[in-house]
Amino acid sequence: MARITLQNLVKNFGDVAVVKHIDLTVEDGEFFSLLGPSGCGKTTILRMIAGFVFPTSGTIRFDDKDVSFVPPNRRNTGMVFQNYALFPHMTVFENVAFGLRTRRVAPDAVRDRVATVLERVGLGGLEKRPVPQLSGGQQQRVALARAIVIEPALLLLDEPLSNLDAKLREETRDQIRALQQQLRITTLYVTHDQEEALAVSDRIAVLYDGKCQQTDTPDRIYHHPANRFVATFMGRMNLWEGKVTMEHGRAVFRHPRGLSVVLAVPAPEGPVCLGIRPQRLKLISTALDDAVSGHILERRFKGPVVEFRVQAGGVEIQASVASSDPVSGSAPGDAVWLVIPGDETILLSDRPPDSL
Ligand SMILES: Nc1ncnc2c1ncn2[C@@H]1O[C@H](COP(=O)(O)OP(=O)(O)O)[C@@H](O)[C@H]1O
Ligand SMILES: [Mg+2]
Repeated sequence: MARITLQNLVKNFGDVAVVKHIDLTVEDGEFFSLLGPSGCGKTTILRMIAGFVFPTSGTIRFDDKDVSFVPPNRRNTGMVFQNYALFPHMTVFENVAFGLRTRRVAPDAVRDRVATVLERVGLGGLEKRPVPQLSGGQQQRVALARAIVIEPALLLLDEPLSNLDAKLREETRDQIRALQQQLRITTLYVTHDQEEALAVSDRIAVLYDGKCQQTDTPDRIYHHPANRFVATFMGRMNLWEGKVTMEHGRAVFRHPRGLSVVLAVPAPEGPVCLGIRPQRLKLISTALDDAVSGHILERRFKGPVVEFRVQAGGVEIQASVASSDPVSGSAPGDAVWLVIPGDETILLSDRPPDSL
């Protein structure tokens, strides 16, 4: 087990900066995810931690040891890739035993350790099966078994579920998390899928353009995003640009086209961006004091919830309603009212990155 510290980590390929001054610590035994869109530098960071590429500057520490330029075979990490990267001409047993044999573990011990770890990942009894005869989910579990059988100090997973279909992805995800909880192995998990990161992680670092945007627990990242990128990347969010004014001792958000929201907390006067998630608004079918009147533009049925686009207060608003709520039957053109609870809104002060 190990604690991983990245300090001012930078990677340039030629004159292109790909990883830009990353500072983060993964605690001993923690399940930590790097989450961000494709191309933001996640794999490059993971490869530097594994030792396949060396940093341009900055340091990587495993506990107190600087491993920045230590070769991969001397870092004691186990790695799982999106494409499994198994040896196709070998059986399950041989694939999992490989790392132990290169470490000159005695044959009896190899047999015991492979059997134990295959039981753990739910593949007991499949030792003799050639790898090409396994399903994608089974192959990924062989890859996981191969990574953990060497008892690494650190488990690195790079989009391990991307090649699996939706149901299997969820099952395998939960298995990985359960296994990590049993073994308490420090785990760094790379994904572009925010739901996946929220479901498995103790903490998440959200990356964009080679930079860390926020490092926090899944709850805080979702409910208290640090900026507009994180807010929108973590799920649907209404964002309105306007300004805060003080009116009768209360902070009020005013949108230039008319929408206003009384805020629950004091806020400095001036330009802001106000955010609220679509499920935090209340959509109602009768007029109510403090409700904004509008009409439905679009209805999308999603099973447990119904998503609406609503025109109200001069702006377009996304609202999400449980499909058990009678208002969920509203159709385009119907008059509706929206209650925007001030205590459910988030104030964001920055503007979106240029390329969004
Ligand atoms: N060996 C390399 N040489 C040049 N550019 C690279 C190399 N590896 C990655 N890149 C570039 O670095 C950026 C980040 O890549 P990567 O770390 O793979 O992102 P992610 O895993 O988040 O999708 C991309 O623009 C990619 O094209
Ligand atoms: Mg990648």
